[in-house]
Amino acid sequence: MKATARAHTNIALIKYWGKRNESLILPANSNLSVTLDGFSTETTVHFQEGLKKDSFHLNEQNVEGDALGKVAIFLDKVRALSGKEIYAQVQSVNHVPTAAGFASSASGLAALAAASSKAIGLSLNDTELSKLARQGSGSASRSIFGGFVEWQMGKREDGSDSFAVQIADKSHWDIRIAAVVLSKTEKKVSSREGMRRTVETSPFYAGWLEQTAKDLQEIKQAIKVKDFEKMGSVAEANCMRMHATTLGANPPFTYWQDTTMRVMQTVQTLREQGIPAFFTIDAGPNVKVLYLPENEAKVKKRLQATEGVEDIIISKPGSGISYR
Ligand code: ADP
Ligand code: DP6
Ligand code: CO
Repeated sequence: MKATARAHTNIALIKYWGKRNESLILPANSNLSVTLDGFSTETTVHFQEGLKKDSFHLNEQNVEGDALGKVAIFLDKVRALSGKEIYAQVQSVNHVPTAAGFASSASGLAALAAASSKAIGLSLNDTELSKLARQGSGSASRSIFGGFVEWQMGKREDGSDSFAVQIADKSHWDIRIAAVVLSKTEKKVSSREGMRRTVETSPFYAGWLEQTAKDLQEIKQAIKVKDFEKMGSVAEANCMRMHATTLGANPPFTYWQDTTMRVMQTVQTLREQGIPAFFTIDAGPNVKVLYLPENEAKVKKRLQATEGVEDIIISKPGSGISYR
């Protein structure tokens, strides 16, 4: 009863920001991402008779407390699905900074969903796996698939129609995504807490929701016809609107740092010089820059010259879940 799975992170081009059901993790809006080949999690789950509780090792460190609690609550769902009362040892390695806005919860919970369901003997198809991963972390529903992926919010109250679908595979379009590393430290406000606070208290949240369905339709069309300027500009505007909602929350907050804005300005300067590059930012200070492969040298050079940039990790569209 042991299995190992790998999942890649993803970067949202149309953000998931706000839940309509907290316990089932159902989103308030459909959203869309690109899976990234540069960041991943590999997780091994071993169910064993005789264990009295679950254990969790992350990056070779034993984890207790809240983070173990989240893994155990997730495994409870897997146990309920299989009808087996058995505990597990979970060992995971993040090839991505944890809880810093690089979507470790996406690759982490997608890998956990795949490894644990296989280890316990469930044979879930990708749609079922996406629904399961969703209940661990919303963005993980998308990391089951490679390429360009839409998480369809669904309408039902039980979540049975809320899962991700691939809209184009990784070979559809050779774009690049540079993750500009400014800080690898854990964020003060988790994605979960940040979106909850925004939904509950920000008067700007309604404005965000109003525009996002339109953004999604536009970006899907742009991806289909490979209109880079359109895709980039819709993604950038969607990101700005999501981050604007946090400023209206009570208490107000932002994920940006001074260096975040410096990188955003570098991207705007690149565009003024005729190089199509666009940014997007998840729940953290780090910036992801979208560009076409022929502009890599110029984009990299400009980003490296920006004050505060620690590292640049370049991804192509990546693949979905895999097993070892
Ligand atoms: P991020 O930007 O990294 O996705 P979040 O606040 O959304 O940040 O989620 C971080 C949380 O995801 C961690 O505190 C932990 O609970 C969970 N997580 C991250 N990596 C893993 C992993 N490999 N296995 C299980 N859970 C993980
Ligand atoms: C800003 O999936 O990390 O990155 O469902 O509460 O675990 P939970 O949150 P999470 O939220 C991601 C928010 C985002 C946008 C996105 O990835 O779509
Ligand atoms: Co996350």
